[in-house]
Amino acid sequence: MITRAASFGALALAAALAAASAQAQTLALSASAERGRALLANRVESGCILCHALPGFAQGGELGPSLVAIAQRSSAQELRRRIADARLFNPETIMPPYLSTEELQAVAPAYRGRTALSPQGLEDIVAYLMAPAR
Ligand code: HEC
Repeated sequence: MITRAASFGALALAAALAAASAQAQTLALSASAERGRALLANRVESGCILCHALPGFAQGGELGPSLVAIAQRSSAQELRRRIADARLFNPETIMPPYLSTEELQAVAPAYRGRTALSPQGLEDIVAYLMAPAR
C-alpha cells in the first residue's frame, strides 16, 4: 500500500528528478569524472566507498555490490535514479537517498532540507562510473 506521505514523496522526487534531468544535459557537458572520483572516495561527503568496491580503488566496503564495471550492466540514467533515491529500486535499502529529502530519519538540524549530493555532484559521480574500465 502506498501511504499519502510516500506518494507525495514520490511526486516530489519525480519533480526533483525532472529538474535534475533538465539540468543533467547541461551538467553532463560539464561533468568531471575526476571530481566524481574524489566524491566517491570521500567518506564524509558521499560515503560510497564505505559500502562499495569502486573502480580504480584497491579498497572499498562490502555492504553493497561492487561497482567495478557497473557501466557494463547499467545506463547513466539508471545510475542517476539509483543514486538519487535507491528506495525506488528497494524500499528497504540501506543505501542513503542522495537527491531526496523526503521521509528521512534522524537528520541533524544543519542538514534538514538539504540533499546529500548536489545535481552536479551526482553527474560527476555518474561520469566516473560510466567511464571506460580502468
Ligand atoms: C550504507 C551503504 C551504502 C552506501 C553509503 C551507498 N550504497 Fe550503493 N548500494 C548499497 C546496497 C546495499 C546496494 C544493493 C541494492 C540495495 O539493497 O538497495 C547498493 C546498490 C548500488 C548500486 C546498484 C549496483 C548494481 O549492481 O546494480 C549503485 C550504482 C550504487 N549502489 C551506487 C552508490 C553510490 C554512487 C554511492 C555514493 C553516492 C552509494 N551507492 C552509497 C549500499 C550503499
